[in-house]
Amino acid sequence: MQRTQHCAAMIYFSGLLGFLLVVTAEAKVGNSSQGSFCTETKQCLLFNLTCQTRNYQVRRYESVKLVSTNETARFLETAMFPTFSRLYKYITGENSDDKNIEMTAPVIMRIPEKGAFESGDFKMSFILPAEHQMNPPKPTCKEVYIEEMKEMSVYVMSYGGWMSTLTDNWYSYTLSSALKAGIKYSKGFHYSVGYNSPTTLTDRHNEVWFVVEGDPVCYSNV
Ligand SMILES: *[C@@H]1O[C@H](CO)[C@@H](O)[C@H](O)[C@H]1NC(C)=O
Ligand SMILES: *[C@@H]1O[C@H](CO)[C@@H](O)[C@H](O)[C@H]1NC(C)=O
Ligand SMILES: *[C@@H]1O[C@H](CO)[C@@H](O)[C@H](O)[C@H]1NC(C)=O
Repeated sequence: MQRTQHCAAMIYFSGLLGFLLVVTAEAKVGNSSQGSFCTETKQCLLFNLTCQTRNYQVRRYESVKLVSTNETARFLETAMFPTFSRLYKYITGENSDDKNIEMTAPVIMRIPEKGAFESGDFKMSFILPAEHQMNPPKPTCKEVYIEEMKEMSVYVMSYGGWMSTLTDNWYSYTLSSALKAGIKYSKGFHYSVGYNSPTTLTDRHNEVWFVVEGDPVCYSNV
């Protein structure tokens, strides 16, 4: 009798805790109506705009749980297919609960800084929807893992069309040029993020992100 009561209290308590954590998670991943370019999925990664110039934005992201997978490759194009298909399998049932998990946006690709023909470690991540932030189903594929993206500020440059080695190189070069000497950001990698499915042909939106180091800077005269 006492044991039953104890269990009931535990269930009640963990239910309450779950509710509180889900509410918190909703501040990071939420309805896509809150982002004008995030239109193809029900939930999007949310951010606060810190400041912007004609060329770039500074955004603040809260820490959030992701499902990720790595691939050693020379080119973005060759890394994209195996990583996307592994993560897609995870959200369509290759997980400990056999759950279908909703697709969210953006899809984040971590791009190593390297020589054009050298190989490097690429990483693709999907953002887990709010309802799976607290307790993500475990991946059954050993190359897929759950991780937490720490809270961060990023310098963001947006572009339309298709993400490729060529466009990614061009816009990361353009963003690094727009950031004046003395503006600090993490070196050795950047993020390339996309908001559209490959079948969308118009109004595509992509971004290059550099992780801010120190205080973010927006020069209003550039
Ligand atoms: C998104 O919108 C739906 C319907 O308007 C609502 O029920 C739901 O709570 C919202 N979710 C988030 C994460 O804001
Ligand atoms: C944006 O700022 C508000 C107010 O400070 C905060 O409650 C919210 O969590 C922030 N959201 C993100 C994604 O940083
Ligand atoms: C995946 O790649 C990232 C970025 O290069 C690296 O930091 C991380 O250790 C790698 N993880 C695995 C499991 O290989």
